[in-house]
Amino acid sequence: MRRAAPATVSARLRRHVTLEAHANGEIVAYFDGYSVGLGTFSAGVADRAKTLRMGLPLASFASGGGNINKAIDLLVRRLAARGLLEYRLGRSRDDADLAVIEPQTLDYWPQTPQLRDAETLVLSRFAYMRRRGDEMVLESPRAGALIKICDPRIATAIAILSAPQKIKQLRALDGFPGVAFLALLVDCQIVFKVDGAGENGLRRAEGDDNLVLWDFHDLLFHARSTEGRHANPLGGVYPHAGLISPLPAVRPQWPGKKIDLRKVPVAPPEAISPVAKLLRERHSTRSFDDQRPITLAELSRFLDGAARVLSTSNAKFDLDEGGHTVRPYPSAGAAYELELYLAVDKCEGLARGFYHYDANAHALAQIGVSADDLEALLAGAAYAMGAPAAPQILITIAARFGRISWKYSSIAYSLILKDVGVLTQTLYLMATDMGLGGCAIGIANIDRFAKMTGIEFHVEGPVGQFAIGRGAKSEAPD
Ligand SMILES: Cc1cc2nc3c(=O)[nH]c(=O)nc-3n(C[C@H](O)[C@H](O)[C@H](O)COP(=O)(O)O)c2cc1C
Repeated sequence: MRRAAPATVSARLRRHVTLEAHANGEIVAYFDGYSVGLGTFSAGVADRAKTLRMGLPLASFASGGGNINKAIDLLVRRLAARGLLEYRLGRSRDDADLAVIEPQTLDYWPQTPQLRDAETLVLSRFAYMRRRGDEMVLESPRAGALIKICDPRIATAIAILSAPQKIKQLRALDGFPGVAFLALLVDCQIVFKVDGAGENGLRRAEGDDNLVLWDFHDLLFHARSTEGRHANPLGGVYPHAGLISPLPAVRPQWPGKKIDLRKVPVAPPEAISPVAKLLRERHSTRSFDDQRPITLAELSRFLDGAARVLSTSNAKFDLDEGGHTVRPYPSAGAAYELELYLAVDKCEGLARGFYHYDANAHALAQIGVSADDLEALLAGAAYAMGAPAAPQILITIAARFGRISWKYSSIAYSLILKDVGVLTQTLYLMATDMGLGGCAIGIANIDRFAKMTGIEFHVEGPVGQFAIGRGAKSEAPD
């Protein structure tokens, strides 16, 4: 019996993307009504780029050598950085796809690390297969790409990998797609190497202690419910408008008799408590008075009132030996896993930059980040608020995930999000009390934060954002 040729990886334009070479040599990509210039290239490169429609084998240019190969490599990497490529795995150009790799992060580039026959692989406990339309996809919140499975025998191989397998054993499988495919899975952390076969404690064998602390559903929810690690539609895009009616703003009444609270005697309105007054005054402020930015003294008072550690204790709190703090807002299990990072655009007395708020020392520690990252972070906040300019300060609320998941199973991530809500309202009220303006922002880019801080996305990362500054006149409280 003739052995099937091993499958190879080719870069291919995503279906909705077209390339055009203009007379001046510029190659332009067109997609969804947008166009993006990719640079000027020779006629030879433009000609070879045509094969990107069907698939250009990575091995044919990625190893460099020759001007055309280098130029094609540059063009392909520019397309990849804009999310315009996918990668097909196939035995030959004319054969059907075995699998298609769809990047989920902008820096994804298919890597095929060397694997030896004697090595043992096993499926990550974060990997899963599901139906998407009429396709089967293999995904993981740890992966920079998802894999569309076109040949059912690949799904069989994946199922077999739920227990450790030697690569040699996998080679014997009917329809084995080749070691390159396994290498792609290893690179995506969908599959990982283990020492020896059949060991127990696979949870511990995958990644560091920080990863051990995550439940499957929590890591998936974290990676998929905000920006940075997936390529799905995101935010207020009204996916069901025109198909399903929106729910009414006020819940339809329950039938039956009601007790009318308006008729219950209350204190006269002038006796309204300061807290009730503050709650009524609170509102979201999205544009800021950049002629009179927030001052460092105001920022200090704001953080002191809303987020500072009021006292610490080393008393053992149930099994937790990590110490115990008291702060102005409540926190699930008194874990206080939330940290504040400040992207400062304009603050009188404080240089533009990125800072961590040390809530215990009541101090700001500057973190060196690139000007582009700081700009992108602030611009993302302006976009999320539909605001004309960046907020004076953008607070990123980041969670030290393990602080909660060390104790709580199944509910850890939901507790973190509840804590974010509690802290957000505290920030709103403190801002209102000080005559400052603030606005919660429901989205944050977890990949950008990881790059800016050098902290892996599963260790500490954004779970909320809050813009703060002196509100523009029209937005200031009365
Ligand atoms: C969790 C959360 C996320 C929010 N995200 C955004 C956002 O991304 N952009 C924005 O402009 N406003 C955001 N807001 C503000 C709401 O739009 C605002 O609270 C709501 O419209 C009610 O208005 P008010 O805060 O002025 O009373 C968010 C509020 C919350 C609580």
